Amino acid sequence: MTISIVCPGRDPEPWRLALKQVDRSLDVQVWPHERAREEIEFALCWDQPEGLLRDYAQLKCICSMGAGVDHLLKDRTLPHNIPVVRIVDPSLAKSMFEYISAAARYFQRDLDVYSRQQAQMDWRPHSPGLVAGTTIGVMGLGKLGEYVATRLQEIGFRVLGWSRERKIIDGVTTYAQQQLHEFVSQADILVCLLPLTHQTRGILGESLFSRLPASACLINVARGEHLVEADLLAALELGQLRGACLDVFTQEPLPQDHPFWHHEKILVTPHCASVTDPAAVAVQIAQNYRLMRSGGVLMNEVNVDRGY
Ligand code: NAP
Ligand code: GLV
Repeated sequence: MTISIVCPGRDPEPWRLALKQVDRSLDVQVWPHERAREEIEFALCWDQPEGLLRDYAQLKCICSMGAGVDHLLKDRTLPHNIPVVRIVDPSLAKSMFEYISAAARYFQRDLDVYSRQQAQMDWRPHSPGLVAGTTIGVMGLGKLGEYVATRLQEIGFRVLGWSRERKIIDGVTTYAQQQLHEFVSQADILVCLLPLTHQTRGILGESLFSRLPASACLINVARGEHLVEADLLAALELGQLRGACLDVFTQEPLPQDHPFWHHEKILVTPHCASVTDPAAVAVQIAQNYRLMRSGGVLMNEVNVDRGY
């Protein structure tokens, strides 16, 4: 009756301590030093080594350490019949809103422009764009996107939202999957909060950028692979896009020689928009572990075929 924490490149200790804090009786092991892999029933993972989970002969549940599950599902050997659950927590949504509202204000108040002017010692004020005159388009209206869209309209932005199936959200104009072009054509600031799936990979590319209003801005907080990097660089060069705030990258950490680091129209942050706090989510992980053992209905289960 064992939980294993599998997170190469990340520190597992805060997770182990948080789980023990919630329930001292839990047997929590840490990959690659598990006592007996054949006893493990519940794997708490981030980016597990491909094929590893096949060694866990008693595995009954796989849990992501975050909201996204692309890092789990990319393992082509993932056992098919084992449920996958993920983290859903108000603290993640709140932190995501704080990040996105700060990034939206950065563009709306021309701080990107003034940062470039500062480099030239150029003292030139501009009249600021109005919050109410700025339209933000949120791609993905799931647990994070719906909260972010709702809060952005509460602070005065005009907000549009896009999802596979059309949602009803107070104060937000929403669009279904087939209305992508109508949605995008109005977004002064486009926010990507989609899960990474075979349908959404590369969605932030030339064909989308060409349909945005002139000088729109991009905020990508979802996954690096949503973005076609060369298309972003070309759109910035052409002035089709005014700027981008990027928190996620195809390769993380962003390689030292990557052109984004020194690009004057790109703000880079190190995948920090909304980081899961082990202490905040250990209770829900332990609860899912108990549900798994009692044969109950798991919380926050992912549709593996759909990819999110
Ligand atoms: P979620 O609850 O699964 O919501 C996904 C949303 O995307 C849903 O509204 C879904 O539409 C929509 N969607 C999926 N595929 C689509 C498609 N092909 N076309 C249009 N809409 C589509 O996900 P979440 O919890 O909000 O998280 C979103 C993502 O944020 C995660 O997958 C992760 O990659 C990223 N994230 C990043 C950070 C960070 O620090 N940067 C932190 C946490 C999460 P339906 O509602 O119609 O199904
Ligand atoms: C972070 O990127 C997450 O998916 O929670």
